Amino acid sequence: MSKVLSPSPLPYDVGRLKELSSDEVKLMPKLTYCGHSCALIESEAGNVIIDPFLTGNPLASHTPEQIPKLSAVLLTHGHADHLGDTIRLAKRDGAPVVATYELAAYCQSKGTEAVTMNIGGSYQADWGRVKLVQAWHSSSYQEGSETIYTGMPTGVIYSVEGKTIYHLGDTGLFSDLELIGKWNGPIDVALIPIGDHFTMGIDEAVEAARLVGAKRVIPIHYNTFPPIECDPEEFKKKVADAGGRVEVMKPGEVVEL
Ligand code: NI
Ligand code: MN
Repeated sequence: MSKVLSPSPLPYDVGRLKELSSDEVKLMPKLTYCGHSCALIESEAGNVIIDPFLTGNPLASHTPEQIPKLSAVLLTHGHADHLGDTIRLAKRDGAPVVATYELAAYCQSKGTEAVTMNIGGSYQADWGRVKLVQAWHSSSYQEGSETIYTGMPTGVIYSVEGKTIYHLGDTGLFSDLELIGKWNGPIDVALIPIGDHFTMGIDEAVEAARLVGAKRVIPIHYNTFPPIECDPEEFKKKVADAGGRVEVMKPGEVVEL
């Protein structure tokens, strides 16, 4: 299913492209960490963003205007630090919001396209495949004094061009992470919350990384606000001691998948 594009009009690293002998190269999907729980995944199949909390995020690497044209917005749950700029970005690009039924339907009521799913289900699009899995958390959106129920919280597994990314969402530790990793693996990258208070903290996240068994782990959901301050290098060291591999990414940094 991989398409081949001429590299010239694309903003990829020119030095690397020059090393390639062919004038037609396969560009691997790449992931940009945008701060907090937000990840942008760009590939030849299309661009998707997960949990685009940019406006009001003190660690955001991008403004909504700096986000490239999206094929979809994937959401783990409805809390404001995840829903973020979803409505605006989805409407801008005519991109569907892909999430649990209640959350996607809420976004649809605000004028976006929607793919309403639920836990355990998959959705195949030309821009990739999404599966929702469980997360132990809560999910609602505050609109003025009204609390809107936005379904069960989830993790999001996104596969594109042979690569699989598992965004755990906001969650505590649970043993079915192992089952999820086994059934949906191999997982190339897992994004795991480490900030404590609202999600698991570092030591439980180390165990979560072991259970999921991803080739690489990127810590998320820390240092955005005082209650979730922690040292990602401590997480990195503890995962390394257990035989895993962590990439601590600064907001705005990019990894090839
Ligand atoms: Ni949350
Ligand atoms: Mn959160």
